[in-house]
Amino acid sequence: MKESLLEIDHLSVRYPAPGGDIAAVNDFSLNLVAGECVGIVGESGAGKSQALLAAMGLLPRHARVAGSIRYGGAPFTRELRGRRVAMIFQDPMTSLTPHLRVGAQIAESLTHHLRLSGAAARARALELLRQVQVTDAERRLDQYPHELSGGMRQRVMIAIALACNPEVLIADEPTTALDVTVQAQILALLAGLKRERGMAVVIVTHDLGVVAGVADRVLVMYGGRLVESGAVADLLTTPRHPYSRALLRSMPRIDDPLDGPLHTIAGQPPSPARLPTGCAFHPRCERASDVCRSRFPALAAGRTDVACHHPVEDA
Ligand SMILES: Nc1ncnc2c1ncn2[C@@H]1O[C@H](COP(=O)(O)OP(=O)(O)O)[C@@H](O)[C@H]1O
Ligand code: SF4
Ligand SMILES: [Mg+2]
Repeated sequence: MKESLLEIDHLSVRYPAPGGDIAAVNDFSLNLVAGECVGIVGESGAGKSQALLAAMGLLPRHARVAGSIRYGGAPFTRELRGRRVAMIFQDPMTSLTPHLRVGAQIAESLTHHLRLSGAAARARALELLRQVQVTDAERRLDQYPHELSGGMRQRVMIAIALACNPEVLIADEPTTALDVTVQAQILALLAGLKRERGMAVVIVTHDLGVVAGVADRVLVMYGGRLVESGAVADLLTTPRHPYSRALLRSMPRIDDPLDGPLHTIAGQPPSPARLPTGCAFHPRCERASDVCRSRFPALAAGRTDVACHHPVEDA
């Protein structure tokens, strides 16, 4: 057994609202072990970001969070954030300070976490920029964020995240704002860093292609809940949850006929303010029966872990 790093247990996030609580995350659990890459997928609003922000203690004050977050066997504390566990987000522009040179921003993180300063911090910042394959790294140190492309800015964010040698990197849609070629380069970079540093990575995305490329394990979320989880090889070839299956079918494939039908998932993802009764996927599910509308399906272990009354079995 590999060492458990981040253990999220029965995590729920609720926001009080006049018409009843908004249930952003419901009973989410994740046990991340050293060196593995876990992909979290699901449509927009599924609760992916909320689950991870809650785990890192980064939600607004009025959020009601329940559940347990542990790191290395002890309760997770804020001091671990940015040191043991680093995060990068979708839009590097909003996370970088516009009026501060790139080198200074990396150095700030080094000063804060490692107490490096002056020449040592600059030298280390340069080394980090080279590690994230920023071209012309020396010159970049003195540039401002707006002088860089989106892909370069994301590399800078990754450099800042790596500054304190984290054991876990959480990447929330790190490539969503980038064009396809740059996306592929950033993913290759993350995969390489994971391998070289033995770092565990959690990558959140709505793109199953991303998961197929970098993750060992996938978690599928729907309506704030985990509906299926398993090894990439199992889940992406023969998913058992009807939602995972629909998600997979909605992904364009390289071998699709060009004039073939595009499968989209009919209907809309549920609002966390008004989750359907029973299985939240029932209004959109082709396998739904009476029990699905009345009784919530618990996550059950199997070839993949699945929360469904009528999982798709192997053909
Ligand atoms: N501050 C908030 N107040 C009320 N609801 C929120 C708040 N932040 C997020 N939510 C709700 O939580 C749900 C899950 O959001 P999120 O985790 O960002 O989804 P994802 O990352 O999967 O796209 C959303 O439907 C959103 O409306
Ligand atoms: S529990 Fe029922 S409605 Fe939900 S995914 Fe399974 S078959 Fe579909
Ligand atoms: Mg999100």
